[in-house]
Amino acid sequence: MDDNIQEIKSILKKYNQEHLIKHYETLDENHKKQLIQQIKNIDFSLIDNLYKNTKKEEKNNQDEITPIEYLDKYKLNDEYKYYENIGKKAIKEGKLAAVTMAGGQGTRLGHDGPKGTYDIGLDSHKSLFELLCDSLKEEGKKYGVTIPWFIMTSKENNKATVEFFEKHKYFGYQKDKNIFFFIQGELPMIDTEGKILLNEEGLIKLAADGHGGIYESLVKNGMTEKMRQMGIEWAFIGGVDNCLVKMVDPVLMGLAIDKKVTVACKSIVKANPHEKVGVFCKRNGKPNVIEYSEITDEMAEQVDEQGELLYGESHILCNLFSIDAVERMGAAPLPYHVAYKKAKYLDENGKIVEPDSPNAYKFEAFLFDAFGKVDEMVVLRVKREEEFAPVKNADSAGVDCPRTARELYKKYYNLD
Ligand code: UTP
Repeated sequence: MDDNIQEIKSILKKYNQEHLIKHYETLDENHKKQLIQQIKNIDFSLIDNLYKNTKKEEKNNQDEITPIEYLDKYKLNDEYKYYENIGKKAIKEGKLAAVTMAGGQGTRLGHDGPKGTYDIGLDSHKSLFELLCDSLKEEGKKYGVTIPWFIMTSKENNKATVEFFEKHKYFGYQKDKNIFFFIQGELPMIDTEGKILLNEEGLIKLAADGHGGIYESLVKNGMTEKMRQMGIEWAFIGGVDNCLVKMVDPVLMGLAIDKKVTVACKSIVKANPHEKVGVFCKRNGKPNVIEYSEITDEMAEQVDEQGELLYGESHILCNLFSIDAVERMGAAPLPYHVAYKKAKYLDENGKIVEPDSPNAYKFEAFLFDAFGKVDEMVVLRVKREEEFAPVKNADSAGVDCPRTARELYKKYYNLD
């Protein structure tokens, strides 16, 4: 251990992070070991660069942004059936898996527990996880298959998530047969001086690396390998917080297969030109998503000959990937974006500090940053009222909250 400590000290000195072992001697043996292992796992030059990037303007205004083509699911006319049949055949052959990203912190909702365990207040009191599972079961029945379900958790919420599933008997799914959990990656949080934070236990303060971590996590945890062994060729990747998400969509799948693309995404049209959502576009000729903060008012209002917004297709985290595409996207790291957050930490005097305003940087990769790795993708416009009921905020916010999601869900399923 002494050799270890000397080696660790010199690494920390090099990167100006010596405070990380200031309280080393006060830790018990188990925590000492964990801290050393954590420090060894940190890519300090990455953290250094990420800190430097917090001082730079993130946007690259040199990018050439152009509209992307899309199809409207309900204007496919005769082709609808054609694509649907192709997709149905592939689903019946067991080629589709559903992947749910449930590693987020759900800070805006403020629920004490994993977001997927949240009860949106239906008479059934079903959790988001159960609502998603219900829809998978219903779709599976149509095609005579059980759609395998892969769930990404974080280190922070994995235990609580698995316990919740156990308590609810996996909603009828079978663990390790058709339901699989895997844990996403993490990165250290740093303060405004670039110092890595310690948590209350004196260990490195880590935070999930964003939904863009999905590709790498699927690959590193052996999930894509498992999918291949199971004969799965396509993975629908969606969030846990959209209670109307349609993970099994034969039209989307048929389109991807027929058009020989490896990524097919669903969009909904913006509620108004200035709605604060990311929209599909081409960036330097490659598929991408442009954030509302990056788009000028003029671009946001531009329309085509039919009067449709040129940048009107909102990205709703409903995307289908071939397993090859997931592996390609997971092979190289995505850029990290910075978020300024409140984070409880242990200060240099060994005191726990609980700030009431943001004090720390958290680094997150965004799933859509990988879209540029393919040349072409299908963007399919679907109906908002059929596929999008997000639970992002607490009811007090009045939008994208449990109340609005519940109303949309009830309306869609004709409840009460
Ligand atoms: P959001 O970006 O809306 O974040 O996630 P969130 O964690 O749910 O909520 P806030 O921002 O803290 O309030 C969209 C989807 O991506 C997942 C979430 O669980 C959600 O399904 N996600 C997000 C992850 O799986 N991991 C992450 O690191 C971030």
